[in-house]
Amino acid sequence: MPKPWATLGVDLHLEPTGPGLRRGLTDALREAVRTGRLAPGTRLPSSRTLATDLGIARNTVAEAYADLVAEGWLTARQGSGTRVAMGAPPTPFRRWGSAVVPPSGTAPSRRERHRPTYDLRPGTPDLASFPRTEWLKAARRAFTSAPNEALGYGDPRGRIELRTALAAYLSRARGVRTDPEHILICAGFAHGLTLLGTVLRAHGARTVAVESYGLPPHWNLLTAAGLRTQPLPYDELGTDPTVLTDEDAVLLTPAHQFPMGAPLHRDRRAAVVDWARRTGGLVLEDDYDGEFRYDRQPVGALQGLDPDRVVHLGTASKSLAPGLRLAWMVLPPRLMEEAVSAKGGMDTCGVMDQLTLAEFITSGAYDRHVRSARLRYRRRRDALVTALAAHAPEVHVTGIAAGLHAVLPLPSGTERTVLQAATWQGLALHGLTFFRHTAALAEPLDALVVGYGTPPDHAWAGALEALCRVLP
Ligand SMILES: Cc1ncc(COP(=O)(O)O)c(C=O)c1O
Repeated sequence: MPKPWATLGVDLHLEPTGPGLRRGLTDALREAVRTGRLAPGTRLPSSRTLATDLGIARNTVAEAYADLVAEGWLTARQGSGTRVAMGAPPTPFRRWGSAVVPPSGTAPSRRERHRPTYDLRPGTPDLASFPRTEWLKAARRAFTSAPNEALGYGDPRGRIELRTALAAYLSRARGVRTDPEHILICAGFAHGLTLLGTVLRAHGARTVAVESYGLPPHWNLLTAAGLRTQPLPYDELGTDPTVLTDEDAVLLTPAHQFPMGAPLHRDRRAAVVDWARRTGGLVLEDDYDGEFRYDRQPVGALQGLDPDRVVHLGTASKSLAPGLRLAWMVLPPRLMEEAVSAKGGMDTCGVMDQLTLAEFITSGAYDRHVRSARLRYRRRRDALVTALAAHAPEVHVTGIAAGLHAVLPLPSGTERTVLQAATWQGLALHGLTFFRHTAALAEPLDALVVGYGTPPDHAWAGALEALCRVLP
């Protein structure tokens, strides 16, 4: 029996637990470092000494040390032995979650101090390539020609210039069937979803079917509106909406499932619209990155199949920047008035940004920007695939045909360790587990969801190298 403690040159209670000795020892040591019980720089005993103290094979200790060196918790150098790596014990980097607002005059929070060197979390485009010059030119043109009345309390649906520009763009580029009268401008997709939650509740709705994998903050918004979210099955064809029965609505990412990456299967697109027609249910189409498809034409909007049953939601968060907080909903005519009243009967989005985006679209700058961003992200995607083939050939990357992120399946049970190692290396990453609905029936899958859009160009190669280093 191993002793529950060992003399490491520091007083340390070490209690290897778990199925195997190596795993148990690795976990116990990692935990000791993570919690700060083993301080950075602490020299660990030789594998021979620790093995003797614990009454276990020396190889077991050597292997546990090697695992932790690979994960970045320990360093091993000829002559100075094995030491706890320098730096603060890592805590996972978060993007979605509650905001940290330190009271003024206080020291920055630990989360603020602990910024990642590289950010490969999905969700944000490359902000460094925001088309600032073109945007400013569009703003100047738009504001110069805007009537004085544009500066007053406007149409609660949003500026007519933007709704007109969007109606033309969405019909041309995404196959949406609409006109400016049925578009509502909102402050991000999240705002639009909140408004729809209110509208659904006012109709007595109780349940919204969602995908097994998605964004928990979006599900939380529906819950906050008083609705229950019910995950749909997920199989080898992707999300399965054929099981829909008496749910009141369904929230889907049909062009590019978030985060798994495949479009909704053709037969299932038809099935979901059939369900909506049969039951009176509402389909909420989250078209968050429909512009970014690399190997062929983007998948058209589901709304084109039935504008009376599908609400199409688009956003500038991926194509331009999330900080703009500009998004749009294309609504069935019968829901417009209720959505406007859920919005408080007033326009809540700044007129300058609305006019600028309208001008940006109508002048052709939006198309030019999307085309050049598509090229940049495709190059990054190709570099990711090439690097993985060279450095981690057993990782079979999926979800690469579109969007700004890819899914890297991991050996079962390793996601947490890989994320910890990534954090230690200053690499912000999300595991697939974060995106899994707690009531999902499908077997949990270990994987990384790698957002390759976020790093600026100059940091991309470094981010890719850091990623390859932490893969098992
Ligand atoms: C699946 C999905 N939908 C929508 C959005 C856009 O949300 P918003 O417009 O609120 O920034 C995102 C952004 O991360 C997303 O990942």
